[in-house]
Amino acid sequence: MSPKKIIIDTDPGQDDAVAILLALASPEDVELLGITAVAGNVPLPLTARNARIICELAGRTDVPVFAGCDAPLKRKLVTAEHVHGKTGLDGPQLAEPTMPLQDRHAVDFIIDTLRAEPPGTVTLCPIGPLTNIATAMLRAPDIIARIERIVLMGGAYFEVGNITPAAEFNIYVDPEAAEIVFKAGVPLVVMPLDVTHKALTTKARIDAFRALGTKVGDMVAAWTDFFERFDMEKYGSEGAPLHDPCVIAWLIDPHLFKGRHINVEIETVSDLTLGMTVADWWGVTDRAPNATFIGDLHADGFYALLTSRLARL
Ligand code: BDR
Ligand code: CA
Repeated sequence: MSPKKIIIDTDPGQDDAVAILLALASPEDVELLGITAVAGNVPLPLTARNARIICELAGRTDVPVFAGCDAPLKRKLVTAEHVHGKTGLDGPQLAEPTMPLQDRHAVDFIIDTLRAEPPGTVTLCPIGPLTNIATAMLRAPDIIARIERIVLMGGAYFEVGNITPAAEFNIYVDPEAAEIVFKAGVPLVVMPLDVTHKALTTKARIDAFRALGTKVGDMVAAWTDFFERFDMEKYGSEGAPLHDPCVIAWLIDPHLFKGRHINVEIETVSDLTLGMTVADWWGVTDRAPNATFIGDLHADGFYALLTSRLARL
């Protein structure tokens, strides 16, 4: 099979960085057409900077990076420096990127690419708030039917929330955008906290990154060390979840994951539960299924895949 053409829409973020590296390390499975940055974990200038740092780390300055929306559709931006640090990629000291940011707006790149490629051949991989994707759908509704699939990290059902008691960060930041994407009718695969909280780093898993003896291995180990401290304090878990790489891992080996095709709606009104993904896991409504909502993964298989692929960089 030829590799799937993908666009990664991202707000790096250490776990976003690992997702991008996994994609760059897997050319037989995915062809990364471009990276579109969005405001999320940190403001847009930093996410656009960080995306280029990650490409440079992998020696892939040929991958075009575009800056997109700097604020959610209707709300003020909420960021997550408390998790990712002031730069979004805190951990080791990083040099400023030298590769250029593309002139075109990320939303234009998404629209132009979907119009230029044959229908049903481009998969969108959003791993941050859904502002760029929803804006593209609003501006150019003709692209919706051309998207092969959207595989995204966001939401939660059994794990409920990580930014509020009821909501996961990516959906909470721009619930109106999420609603547009979930209602678009595009085949959707969702990696909620229910699965990403099972993709936990452990000392042995981080040691395996470090044991690669490469710049990428050392950097990923240092990033996950940094990122861990927050979740370990918060959840008392052995390590931190690597949320966003689940999206790319699913494209490479969907058999590592288990989920259900169900209805998922987004709460956009209630202050108390804003951004909640109301997932009909138990099939208690007759609302039409619109998403494959993943609940479980083979964590050892996931980390084995990740480590062996990162070893190539
Ligand atoms: C999501 O929020 C961000 O902080 C992470 O990068 C991930 O995409 C997890 O809730
Ligand atoms: Ca992210």
